Amino acid sequence: MKRVDDFRLKLGGRELVPIVIGGMGVDISTTELALEAARLGGVGHISDAMIKTVSDRRYDTKFVSAKQKRYKHNVANVDKSEVKFDLADVAEATRLHVQGTMHAKRGDGLIFINCMEKLTMNAPKETLRVRLTAAMDAGIDGITLAAGLHLGSFGLIEAHPRFKDVQLGIIVSSLRALQLFLRKSARTGRLPDYVVVEGPLAGGHLGFGLDDWMKHDLRTITGEILAWLRQERLDIPVIPAGGIFTGTDAAGYLETGAAAVQVATRFTVARECGLPPEVQQEYFKADEDDIEVNGISPTGYPMRMLKGSPAIGAGIRPNCEAYGYLLDANGHCAYIDAYYREVAAHPGVKDLHVPDKTCLCTHMRNFDCWTCGATTYRLKDTSRRLADGSYQLLTAEHVFRDYQFSKDGKIALPD
Ligand SMILES: Cc1cc2nc3c(=O)[nH]c(=O)nc-3n(C[C@H](O)[C@H](O)[C@H](O)COP(=O)(O)O)c2cc1C
Repeated sequence: MKRVDDFRLKLGGRELVPIVIGGMGVDISTTELALEAARLGGVGHISDAMIKTVSDRRYDTKFVSAKQKRYKHNVANVDKSEVKFDLADVAEATRLHVQGTMHAKRGDGLIFINCMEKLTMNAPKETLRVRLTAAMDAGIDGITLAAGLHLGSFGLIEAHPRFKDVQLGIIVSSLRALQLFLRKSARTGRLPDYVVVEGPLAGGHLGFGLDDWMKHDLRTITGEILAWLRQERLDIPVIPAGGIFTGTDAAGYLETGAAAVQVATRFTVARECGLPPEVQQEYFKADEDDIEVNGISPTGYPMRMLKGSPAIGAGIRPNCEAYGYLLDANGHCAYIDAYYREVAAHPGVKDLHVPDKTCLCTHMRNFDCWTCGATTYRLKDTSRRLADGSYQLLTAEHVFRDYQFSKDGKIALPD
């Protein structure tokens, strides 16, 4: 049987190692992780989720406190419609993060940015246009459109001078979603350069229903999409994602027509990953029944996470004045309703418990929502236990090379 290294992903006139490290929001897929993927000849992702927070942490800006100060008067108000993002600040934060990453890039690989449509930021069109435009201005190699159908996204940037040359891809979880996207984007005269097919075992948000995700499987969806593209004579690289745990799993997809694989969970325990080391130990320790798919994300999409995530059941006051990334076009977020419902039901109670939704901005920002892939319980088999009982963190290079070169379902342990 072949190894991943026997294949190459042809993209943007290059031949790449067909391993894409997927975007993991709020700086879990860090610059450092993406740089390693590029250095090793594959594709890495940074993410533009909560970009101002990321910029404050990495580039010493003060975007979050400035926004919080500006809207301080509104903190106790249920109505968040006036809490708007300063578009120039969004552009500047994106520029800093993308330029900072691209300037450090070495090697033959590429670095893309993951751009989630569900980050509606109280002005979906305007903020998305700025995010996409600023990333292209700052020299990103490619943009992966995620968490949404993105039916208007190509249209938002079609006048940009880099529209034709930047690599543009979309994440879909069904053939129908891809067909819809292609139909709506046809007017711009441009096809996506790649399609990531994300199945139900992925981490983060899932593109399936809370009750039916388990009825779907990545192999079937990928097969349907490959067959349809062939039938339509559309030459778009297909990149399956979700539950691809070993190099052998990956090679299996490449042998049946996939152009590359997108992986993430194995890299959550790499040193270059943005999760704090103590949270990485939680990922290592997790057993299969410590993982659940729940509906607490205010986006409306199901999300997979460790049951021990502090975000589950927490009842903090909505933090939209500081963050507000999930406010829809009318300044609304499902967590605000859930929170104020509990406030009304439990007057005077300090430690509120909100069971059905969570303040995803705050908890993702603080690494308290431990979103993970379905295979997280296997991470303990990829490392060694140290004398103190903790697991040894891996290097991104070790994990990447294991995907690239391993055979026979084997996983290489670190030295
Ligand atoms: C911790 C974590 C965070 C993620 N965050 C995002 C995200 O912000 N946006 C996105 O499109 N996908 C996100 N994903 C999905 C990955 O990019 C990837 O497609 C998927 O997890 C691959 O499957 P695997 O984790 O089984 O390898 C996340 C995955 C993980 C594990």
